[in-house]
Amino acid sequence: MKEKKDMIILGIESSCDETSASIVKNGTEEIATVISSQIDIHKDYGGVVPEIASRHHVKNITIVLEECLEKANMTMDEIDAIAITYGPGLIGSLLIGLEAAKTLAYLYQKPLIPVHHIAGHIYANSLVRPFKFPLLALVVSGGHTELIEMTDHYKFKKLGGTLDDAIGECYDKVARVIGLEYPGGPKLDKLAKNGKPTYKLPIPLHDDSYNFSFSGLKSAVINLAHNEEQREHELNKENLAASFQKVAVESVISKTRKAIEENKIKYLIVAGGVAANQILRKEIENLGEEMNVEVSIPPMKYCTDNATMIAAAGYYAYLDGRTADLSLNSTSTATLK
Ligand code: KG4
Ligand code: ZN
Repeated sequence: MKEKKDMIILGIESSCDETSASIVKNGTEEIATVISSQIDIHKDYGGVVPEIASRHHVKNITIVLEECLEKANMTMDEIDAIAITYGPGLIGSLLIGLEAAKTLAYLYQKPLIPVHHIAGHIYANSLVRPFKFPLLALVVSGGHTELIEMTDHYKFKKLGGTLDDAIGECYDKVARVIGLEYPGGPKLDKLAKNGKPTYKLPIPLHDDSYNFSFSGLKSAVINLAHNEEQREHELNKENLAASFQKVAVESVISKTRKAIEENKIKYLIVAGGVAANQILRKEIENLGEEMNVEVSIPPMKYCTDNATMIAAAGYYAYLDGRTADLSLNSTSTATLK
């Protein structure tokens, strides 16, 4: 890998319901970030509506880009390259960011760097401290639950992943059963603080693999809520939130422990929106101590979708020679390579 001094990258992210632009120096130093979230728009529907998300990205993208440059007090001439989330995500949403990135790359003759969304979540940690290899990344978001081993920058090996629902998706669905607004994950997390894990729920996919499964746990919570209603028992929401959270977190922790043990991991990082979860953060810290492994969890602002992580990942992707020409396309199901 070639080293280059002071590389300023403009990152763009639009894979779901956040339109974001960010300028980052050398993959580690955030200069300016703007995030426009559509949460308030989608919560009335109980989840992200793809067509509505695309329309709002169209409305927001130019404003977000202009605001970001203004905040950084920079012009496009000072930008060395443009990093863009090409997938996975909602195809209509992805395409808006991609077209903006391609237009800027063409107009200002800058290299275009395609970034996988999950690589972005992982590299959110490089804004905190340098990576050490071999590292294990636990990726927990609304669309992903994966264990990824890295032996060097941009050398990813997927050890396992979810067979059905992602953990964030499960949090949001369970939160809905409890009557919490979308996105319910953070609200459920808060509610669980006042509860006790009194309800019995199954530990998902308690097996020898590195895989996860959350649809059975989701169904168990839905059934439990229905049964309590039929018996005219009042559902203790705090306790149900605490019971669900205990089992969901236990499931990811046990597979992470196994991956550390079997792959001689010395550095553990957590990435994705669910990394904002209080119990998971605490349990990961405990696991690090127990197994003598260094742990990195990004600050809350880097956990959920943002372009800072895309610009950070873009730097390492560039050093690895990963640039694209203007024929680059978005893909909703991109695999991390
Ligand atoms: O990474 P992200 O912003 O979007 C995806 O790429 O999917 O993750 C969003 C997910 C949502 O499911 C949201 O409910 C969940 O992260 N989340 C949380 C918490 N904060 C966000 N889940 C549990 N506890 C939290 N504190
Ligand atoms: Zn994400």
